[in-house]
Amino acid sequence: MRIIVLHTPKGGSGKSTLARELAVAATLAGRHVAMADLDPQGTTTGWYRRRTAPAPALVAFQPTDDTAQLEAAGLEWLVIDTPPGAPPWIGDLLGRADAVLVPVRPTPDDLLAAAPIARGLARCPAWAFVLSQVPPRSRLTEGAVRQLAALGRVAPAQIGFRADFPSAAIEGKAAVEFTGKAADEARDLFAYARQLLQEPTDDQTEG
Ligand SMILES: Nc1ncnc2c1ncn2[C@@H]1O[C@H](COP(=O)(O)OP(=O)(O)OP(=O)(O)O)[C@@H](O)[C@H]1O
Ligand SMILES: [Mg+2]
Repeated sequence: MRIIVLHTPKGGSGKSTLARELAVAATLAGRHVAMADLDPQGTTTGWYRRRTAPAPALVAFQPTDDTAQLEAAGLEWLVIDTPPGAPPWIGDLLGRADAVLVPVRPTPDDLLAAAPIARGLARCPAWAFVLSQVPPRSRLTEGAVRQLAALGRVAPAQIGFRADFPSAAIEGKAAVEFTGKAADEARDLFAYARQLLQEPTDDQTEG
C-alpha cells in the first residue's frame, strides 16, 4: 500500500481539494483507494458525507497507526489530507509517506513559506510542489516555477483556479468525475503522482 500525503502549513492552498481529486482519479483508474482526514476542520470528512458513490473509502487513521489491517483489506492507495500549521506528528507522517504533494499558490506570500517546507521534507523519498489555484495568464506563475524548482521538484501538472473544483465538491464529487479543464488537470496530477511513486506506466503493465 502506498501512502500519499497532501501537506503544507499554509492554509487554503488546496490540500483537501487535491486529496479528493487524487483519490477519486485513482479510484476511476481502478485502484482500491481510501482517504484519511487528519484535519480537525473535517473538510474531507464533510465532503465524504455528501458523497453518494461508495469509493474511495474514508478510513479512521492516525499518523502512527499500523497499516497492516488496511493492507490486508487490499488497499492500494491511502491518500491523507492534513491540517494547516505544524501539528507535532507531521514530521513522522512525512517520514513514512511514499509521496508528498505540497500545493502552493503562485503568490509571494506562499512562495516565502516554500523554503522551510522543503527543509521539512528532507526525510521524504518522493515529494513535489504542485502549483495550485493558478490564475489565468499571470506573470507570477513562471517566476513561481523558477523559485520552487530551486528548492525541490515541481509537478509539471498545474492546477488552475477553476470553479469546477468547488462546484464538484458541493455534491461530494471531484472535478475529475466530469469533463473539462479541471478534470484534465486532476488527471495529469494523478499521472504525476504515479510517476513520483514509480508505479509502472500502463505500457509496462499491459501484456
Ligand atoms: N484550484 C482551485 N480552483 C478554485 N478554487 C479552489 C481550488 N483549490 C481550492 N479551491 C478552494 O479554495 C478553498 C481552499 O481549498 P482547500 O480546502 O482545498 O485548501 P486546504 O489547503 O485544504 O485548506 P486548509 O489549510 O484550510 O485545510 C476552498 O474553498 C476550495 O474550494
Ligand atoms: Mg484542508
